[in-house]
Amino acid sequence: MMSAMPTPTWRIEPVGPLRGDVRISGSKNVVTKLMVASLLSGEPSRVGNAPHIGDVHITASMMRSIGADVEVDEDSEVVSIDPARLSDAHVPYSGLNRIPVLMAGPLLHRFGEAFVPNVGGDAIGSRPVDYHLEALRRLGAEVSITDEGLVAKASHLHGAHFRLPFPSVGATETVLLTAATAEGRTTLENAAMEPEVVELALFLQRMGARIELQPDRCFIIEGVPELSGASQRIGGDRIEALSYLVAGLATGGRVRIVGCAQDRLVTAISTLKRLGAEFAIDDDGIAAEVGPAGLRPAAVHTDTHPGFMTDWQPALVILCTQAAGMSVIHETVFEDRFGYVQALRAMGAEVELFDQCLVGAPCRFDETGFLHSALVRGVSKLYGAEIEMPDIRAAFAYVIAAATADGPSTLHGVHHLERGYDHAHEKFESLGLQISPTG
Ligand code: UD1
Repeated sequence: MMSAMPTPTWRIEPVGPLRGDVRISGSKNVVTKLMVASLLSGEPSRVGNAPHIGDVHITASMMRSIGADVEVDEDSEVVSIDPARLSDAHVPYSGLNRIPVLMAGPLLHRFGEAFVPNVGGDAIGSRPVDYHLEALRRLGAEVSITDEGLVAKASHLHGAHFRLPFPSVGATETVLLTAATAEGRTTLENAAMEPEVVELALFLQRMGARIELQPDRCFIIEGVPELSGASQRIGGDRIEALSYLVAGLATGGRVRIVGCAQDRLVTAISTLKRLGAEFAIDDDGIAAEVGPAGLRPAAVHTDTHPGFMTDWQPALVILCTQAAGMSVIHETVFEDRFGYVQALRAMGAEVELFDQCLVGAPCRFDETGFLHSALVRGVSKLYGAEIEMPDIRAAFAYVIAAATADGPSTLHGVHHLERGYDHAHEKFESLGLQISPTG
């Protein structure tokens, strides 16, 4: 079974270049979605290559609390779900991740009603769930919002044709999870096509759903009355993969990742190449090191797939502090994702934030007051510091910054990191970093 919860503070002793191989675990943003999808059937399902992360436990305990049997086996990396005894459409409050809202569709299918608590997750923007609510309504549910959460009822879910205002990953998942067993055809335009969304669609297809991927961000789902259980080995986590590659590059070392397919990293690799990284890629792994000319600055905007992923952005900013010249980063997916920069400045980084869109097309957040573009001047010598980790991705970025810095750092709030990164302590130590957990 899984190990106990992690200690909350790390003291990090930089040791120079990080070098070695890292096995990338299964994707955080897939495993929990397949766990939720398994509730659509009365039969058992299995998710293989499941990462050992907090989010799996949070989701498992929510599912157990409504009657599902969920077993998380660390040795075989399999999560087994038996939803036969699902007995309650009322999900208790967790506040710890963004999964509850995705449970509304499956619970409506099983019980004709659902209560899901308000979602938590990282503080990187306002993160409303209005698209989810609108999608549930379009598919035939009556939905109301209370102070505690979302209440939905549906005697009859039916297909619908609609378009998302923005290709939201979560809202697309809500539609897939609700329309799969609704009566008739659903056409969803402007859908998210992230690899993690497609992986959910593939799992639903294994369960017996009729889902078509159309050109131009369109899903067509022909509802079926019942789904069966399914088994799927999930793919490697592209966020974890980029994070360790950058840890090698920022410290002047060489990290080789195994277990994450190249096709999930096309834009990560091409962007890092623009910064001066050189890659060695074969069927077994992907290695990166800084080329002879050193790190160069770059202009990058985050985007929906296949663009540069928003979750890659904090690690990229750390790398830009080590590139000679001025880099420009424009965050277009979440309006408030540069909060972590303040602590970086205290470490010696030179980063200025703007509410204008500094590179790429203007986005939804242009001149809204949200500081969503960054100018990063390098090369900055970073110094060790005492820092509070604010969210999962910034947490990992701080570990890279601490590994790059002069002098030790103390990082509090490691639970953020452990919610999304499998055995991060052991993986960093295998690359040579010295981490002493305390607290
Ligand atoms: C998921 C991922 C997260 C990733 C993000 C974008 C999980 C658990 N998390 O988050 O790691 O950074 O996709 O790739 O899979 N929006 C609305 N209303 C809604 C829904 C979304 O306005 O009802 C907006 C958001 O505020 C944001 C944008 O749409 O500006 C994208 O959000 P979305 O793609 O839904 O992100 P998540 O699914 O929450």
